[in-house]
Amino acid sequence: NMPPLQACYNLMDFETVAREVMRKTSWAYYSSGADDEITMRENHSAFHKIWFRPRILVDVEQIDISTTMLGSKVSIPFYVTATALGKLGHPEGEVVLTKAAHQHNVIQMIPTLASCSFDEIVDARQGDQVQWLQLYVNKDRNITQRIVAHAEKRGCKALFITASGGTAVDRSQGAARAISSFIDPSLSWKDIPWFKSITTMPILLKGIQSVDDIFRAIDAGVDGVVISNHGGRQLDTTPSAIEILAEAAPALRARGLEGRIEIYIDGGIRRATDILKALCLGAKGVGIGRPFLYAMSAYGVNGVNHAMQLLKDEMEMGMRLIGASHIKDLNASLLDTRSLQGG
Ligand code: FNR
Repeated sequence: NMPPLQACYNLMDFETVAREVMRKTSWAYYSSGADDEITMRENHSAFHKIWFRPRILVDVEQIDISTTMLGSKVSIPFYVTATALGKLGHPEGEVVLTKAAHQHNVIQMIPTLASCSFDEIVDARQGDQVQWLQLYVNKDRNITQRIVAHAEKRGCKALFITASGGTAVDRSQGAARAISSFIDPSLSWKDIPWFKSITTMPILLKGIQSVDDIFRAIDAGVDGVVISNHGGRQLDTTPSAIEILAEAAPALRARGLEGRIEIYIDGGIRRATDILKALCLGAKGVGIGRPFLYAMSAYGVNGVNHAMQLLKDEMEMGMRLIGASHIKDLNASLLDTRSLQGG
């Protein structure tokens, strides 16, 4: 009694189906957030406090939604972000996401805590498909160095270091805690030069949650940041990434730092209008997590392909209706963020 894939008209529909068909424990791991899940809900609802200011009489006959991320060409400005334990949702795990990412020419970020081995996920790559590595930093820096060197050798194009206040993944999960106990809680800004010394990959910090830390990241000489509260799975009642981005954009402009590093956001992105808002505020792209896990769990690779196609269709329509034909046409003048700032 599973609804046919064609009955999924948007990314939320995959969540509805996944809740019905997934194993209860797997569903709980994918869908949950920390504490009262206030941040998790806010991640999506914050987008509803931003309004568009569409422009009329713009030639939108030809729409081009392609862009670049860290120098790689992509068909649409989102990437598949790193999420642990893909086999909880599908027996083939993360390689399902690899196949769909190839189909749609988007980038996949490989998680440290994948169910498939790192090499399996790299081996599933086709053609000139681009992958990034998400790194949890091991207390044993020799292990960390080996992981990074291996990823670089196997062609990963960027290193995303997940930075968080200590424990990774949510505390309610015994298994998650067990597999994340290797993560080094002493990781600090002082370690950035060491990472730069062990790799030529661009280095990005994933998990920035304040404007001050964006400036700090620029000072530290990293190549980019991901503003993220880890899908609302860590400290509850932290703000949404889009809200921090809205605060950061004018602050960066005021200091002449606009465009100095690539800024990404993740958390709660479910609609192309969410992607458009992030790009108008200066993000180079966005990461999407749970929706692809749900699509994969319910329908396998066809589901993820369909989810990505829905986003592409929405994106083209959104650009047309806003009055922007190219990604470079997206800017803050197309948004009204007063409700966001008003609380
Ligand atoms: C995550 N996330 C995550 N992040 C990370 O750096 N390493 C990891 O191992 C994981 N694992 C993980 C598992 C699951 C089930 C989820 C849902 C999330 C966080 C992830 O990269 C991203 O920040 C959020 O998923 C983005 O929010 P949405 O798109 O899921 O709302």
